Amino acid sequence: MTAFDIVVRHGLLVDGTGAPRRHADVGIVGRRVAAIGDLSGAVGAIEIDATGRVVAPGFIDAHTHDDRYLMLSPEMPAKLSQGVTTVVTGNCGISLAPWRAPADATVPPPLNLLGQDPAEFRFADFATYLAALEAQPAAINAACLVGHTTLRVAAMASLDRTATDAEIAAMQALLHEAMTSGAIGLSTGAAYPTAMPASTAELTGVASVLRQFDSVYATHIRDEGDKIFDALDEAFAVGAAGSAPTVISHHKLIGPRNHGRSTETLAHIAQAMTRQPVGLDCYPYTAGSTILRRDRLAVASRVIVTSSVPHPEYAGLDLDDIAKRMGLSPEDTVDALQPAGAIYFLMDEADVQRILAYPPTMIGSDGLPHDTAPHPRLWGTFPRVLGHYCRDIGLFTLEAAVHKMSGLTAATFGLPARGVLKPGYFADITIFDPETIMDRATWGAPTSRSVGIDTVIVNGVVSWCGDAATGARAGAVIRLTDDVAM
Ligand code: ZN
Ligand code: CU
Repeated sequence: MTAFDIVVRHGLLVDGTGAPRRHADVGIVGRRVAAIGDLSGAVGAIEIDATGRVVAPGFIDAHTHDDRYLMLSPEMPAKLSQGVTTVVTGNCGISLAPWRAPADATVPPPLNLLGQDPAEFRFADFATYLAALEAQPAAINAACLVGHTTLRVAAMASLDRTATDAEIAAMQALLHEAMTSGAIGLSTGAAYPTAMPASTAELTGVASVLRQFDSVYATHIRDEGDKIFDALDEAFAVGAAGSAPTVISHHKLIGPRNHGRSTETLAHIAQAMTRQPVGLDCYPYTAGSTILRRDRLAVASRVIVTSSVPHPEYAGLDLDDIAKRMGLSPEDTVDALQPAGAIYFLMDEADVQRILAYPPTMIGSDGLPHDTAPHPRLWGTFPRVLGHYCRDIGLFTLEAAVHKMSGLTAATFGLPARGVLKPGYFADITIFDPETIMDRATWGAPTSRSVGIDTVIVNGVVSWCGDAATGARAGAVIRLTDDVAM
């Protein structure tokens, strides 16, 4: 009789490719899936009964800021509890490495989304960062991008201008080291003041290093409002300069004036896809979240403060209420709370649904794990897509929803042997109840855990079972050079 380490029986297999669901058992040996089909003649050292449940690839969070969260909370509760088995880190131009901050440095925004204390930025190169991750593995896998803003901070004495040729060369050297060590690509965030002065030539100059590697270019584009078409075109040009697939991060349209324009932006993206590889990700909410900025007040209908270093007691409250309590204008309140983070209601539900439903769109949470009262996307994104958008309003099929959070993401980022349930692929598996899966995190209770996730297996190790983490730390650093098959 064939013996497996784990057999998952009687489940409804949704394999991540988008193919129709089917009844099949899954057999695991070591870190990999060994067989899929009728395994009634085989035994598993661990037997998991998935009757009435969906058996899917572990979800891949296409857009995260978990660079430090992986080390601070290696059990990764916000992600594992949603069925996420892999996070793509280093988005929006900000990564924890490579930068060793001087002890007296101020961590510039938005890099401070990863940590306010310069002591947290302690990795002069990417090899040291990845070695630290591997020495104390997290419960889930990480695929790590290098942030262009981090490169600027490491290579430039002042951030209020575009880089000189010598500074671009220094950034190229840092990026080259990172790619050689196992980074999966580059991210930029020219929408933020610390990277805004960077010219397109600076971005293409840095990205040109990617030509030497399999890689990806992910970008929080320069403008998600009135000038979004210029910003998209710049992103495509930078991706082309690196011969890398371009991922448009958290695609959205900001401000009432631009609501409804996703019909045009998606057409523009589709046109670019005829010339070069392009992907995009999206989170399932009409509010965004980032550092607290004066310039966002005009386009947001409501602002909730998520954290403030001088006033932590205000986290979770509306900016308008804080302004009343402090007796200040909203603008002056923004200044008084710095450094701080916020949630901004600035999107249109019809755009969010149109972008989510667009077949090439991946799911990425963009969760901010270090906020005191974080945007609920940190704890709720994946069950919200499966529960609210898929089951309850029927925005797409279950097969399409799972594909957007697994197979599509692995293919877009080029993650070897991940994202699909197939013999030879890594055994990252999420088992959930399609009838009950639902997010519970709300604006008022942002860290409430989702429901409906039964079992999560990471690299062949049961890491979540019933209603709790097992304590396993089976996460790996994913490299684009990982073995495709056994
Ligand atoms: Zn961003
Ligand atoms: Cu982001």
